[in-house]
Amino acid sequence: MADALVSASLAARFSVSYGYDVHFTPDALHLEDATLAATLRDDGGGRLLAVLDAGLLAAQPDLPDRLAAYGKRHFEDLEFVGDPIVLPAGERVKDGMGHGAPIRAAIAEHHLDRHAHVLAIGGGAVLDAAGFAAATAHRGVRLIRMPSTVLAQADAGIGVKNGVNACGQKNFIGTFAPPRGVINDASLLATVSDRDWRAGMSEAVKVAALKDVGFFTQLEADAPALAARDSAAMHRLIRRCAQLHLQHITGAGDPFETGSGRPLDFGHWAAHKLEQLSGFRLRHGEAVALGIAVDTTYARYTGLLRKSAWERVMSLLAALGSRTPVPELADPRVLDGLGEFAEHIGGPLTLTTLTALGQGIDLRDIDRAAMTASVHHVDRWTRAAR
Ligand SMILES: NC(=O)c1ccc[n+]([C@@H]2O[C@H](COP(=O)([O-])OP(=O)(O)OC[C@H]3O[C@@H](n4cnc5c(N)ncnc54)[C@H](O)[C@@H]3O)[C@@H](O)[C@H]2O)c1
Ligand SMILES: [Zn+2]
Repeated sequence: MADALVSASLAARFSVSYGYDVHFTPDALHLEDATLAATLRDDGGGRLLAVLDAGLLAAQPDLPDRLAAYGKRHFEDLEFVGDPIVLPAGERVKDGMGHGAPIRAAIAEHHLDRHAHVLAIGGGAVLDAAGFAAATAHRGVRLIRMPSTVLAQADAGIGVKNGVNACGQKNFIGTFAPPRGVINDASLLATVSDRDWRAGMSEAVKVAALKDVGFFTQLEADAPALAARDSAAMHRLIRRCAQLHLQHITGAGDPFETGSGRPLDFGHWAAHKLEQLSGFRLRHGEAVALGIAVDTTYARYTGLLRKSAWERVMSLLAALGSRTPVPELADPRVLDGLGEFAEHIGGPLTLTTLTALGQGIDLRDIDRAAMTASVHHVDRWTRAAR
């Protein structure tokens, strides 16, 4: 007799563990530097597709030759397939999914499987686009990142996310896909433009203000050296910023952001909206600096934060060169960023701001009038610098 049809459930519960290392090295493609070769060896070795940022390639045109020479020297651990794929520079590479097409085609052409690696070398935008293409081909070809901007080495290149822009929104399409390794090569930063050098530092101000007053104080002391492109000061900034981001990803219990709060996105609701309103003329880092100023001013305006702490945040932003007027701050649509931010994360709108230096707080009830006043204040603050 057939079993009677009754309601039933089958439990499917499992966890998957992830882990990767973020390495720091002065010159990863120096023939004697074993970091990349060892990363591949420890991950099963094998075939590797290089992806290069066109802006980086223009600044360092010997990179393809250096990669080829490195491949020859370390032939026991790695084998490059074909020539490097070159992706467009900057945010336009994240304009929809189309720019990932050459990566997908090369993965198919060279029969790369889930044991093969994509080596993405570039700024945060190219890493996001290449990471998305790798994560979705065969449901996940392995990824090693070599971030080549300040922002990418300190933040964008070291985490677990990728994404491209679509439907008028930042990072509308993307995945959580931890890399197999990250190599922060200091020599790549030599050619970063002054603009990107400056912009990249705002993620460090963000994480220092939120989580580590000692780091914040160090940034204040280092600000003149950082503004003058001192490599040692920048190395300190990148290393601590990356460490604090990794501590959050690995230790805060929500690496794939299933909750409603996203503390590391302090300043980002306004930043993403400003970037979008500017047609991506603004760099992510430039917009983040203004977003930090807005959310810190909101904390001051609503009485959460003492005047002295607010002034220190604004002064550090200014000392690092981020007090730049942008017309988008006067656009009333900036406030639409609040709703879009909530929608992207899911759940009720939750904003992180400061109650003290090194002390973040998640806010649920946002006073829109106070937020509008804060945006106006930051607009005036930037224009007063002229
Ligand atoms: N996935 C994440 O977790 C995450 C986190 C933060 C930011 N992001 C994303 O990162 C992107 C911003 O990254 P970014 O600030 O690196 O900007 P970017 O990638 O736009 O690069 C800025 C410019 O620098 C050029 N460039 C890169 N390396 C160079 C080098 N060494 N020398 C000379 N020029 C070089 C690029 O070609 C580009 O023109 C944004 O799209 C942002 O959304 C992602
Ligand atoms: Zn950011």
